[in-house]
Amino acid sequence: MIEIESVSVDFHTKLRTVRALKDVSLSVPQGTVFGLVGESGSGKTTLLRAMMGLTAVSSGGVKIAGEAVRQNPPLAFRRRVQMVMQDCYASLNPAHTVDQIIGEPLAIHRFDNPEKRILQALKDVGLGPEHRFRFPHQLSGGQRQRVAIARCLAIEPQVMLLDEPTSALDVSIQAEIVNLVMRLQQQKGLTLFIISHDLPLVTHMCDRLAIMRKGMVREVITSQDLIERKVEDDYTKVLLSASL
Ligand SMILES: Nc1ncnc2c1ncn2[C@@H]1O[C@H](COP(=O)(O)OP(=O)(O)OP(=O)(O)O)[C@@H](O)[C@H]1O
Ligand SMILES: [Mg+2]
Repeated sequence: MIEIESVSVDFHTKLRTVRALKDVSLSVPQGTVFGLVGESGSGKTTLLRAMMGLTAVSSGGVKIAGEAVRQNPPLAFRRRVQMVMQDCYASLNPAHTVDQIIGEPLAIHRFDNPEKRILQALKDVGLGPEHRFRFPHQLSGGQRQRVAIARCLAIEPQVMLLDEPTSALDVSIQAEIVNLVMRLQQQKGLTLFIISHDLPLVTHMCDRLAIMRKGMVREVITSQDLIERKVEDDYTKVLLSASL
């Protein structure tokens, strides 16, 4: 479903060029859950943005469902591939109600029956009609993250990219959101790509995961390998001993 081939990304700033990704290659089969872990600044968000066509690649390329990702991708591509941002509070328009937030992509992608779809999307993420006309500031952090997920799911994507979906939430709510995402993934046969700092969490959620450092993929392993500590890379070993 996702094919990342030798992707490099350079950011040119006034003083110097930052190589944020170096020759990254990964592939994710349809209907599976893939995790991306790595220290802050290792290039995780940059890779996600490149997968969405939001960041230009310097070399290499990404294909999703066989289609090469371009900058400013067409509408049909944007419907198939959805992203939940690192900071869901910043990604929800504070001046819009939940109804408008979920309704907007439905209108852009010309879905029929928006009302029915909005209510269904809320139900899918465990929210009710009573939340429909609230503004983001009238919701808890966990509820806001549910709205961000509902907005993605409403337009029935095939691939969902999640950037630290639970980092802004407290521990008890984190588990709730993780369980929700996993249930929806199974129900809808989604292909998930999840960034997290949290190695135990990724192990729990993902079939396979990649460990990144300084813009490079150090190792790709299965969750089972991680549980059995079958890891090769020294950096992976350091991460593992620090977190499990
Ligand atoms: N628009 C940009 N211009 C210049 N440099 C950038 C830009 N975006 C990211 N970078 C740099 O690229 C590198 C990778 O950043 P990225 O946001 O992908 O890291 P990350 O792994 O997502 O980190 P975190 O876990 O903190 O979110 C960093 O060194 C960052 O400073
Ligand atoms: Mg990031």
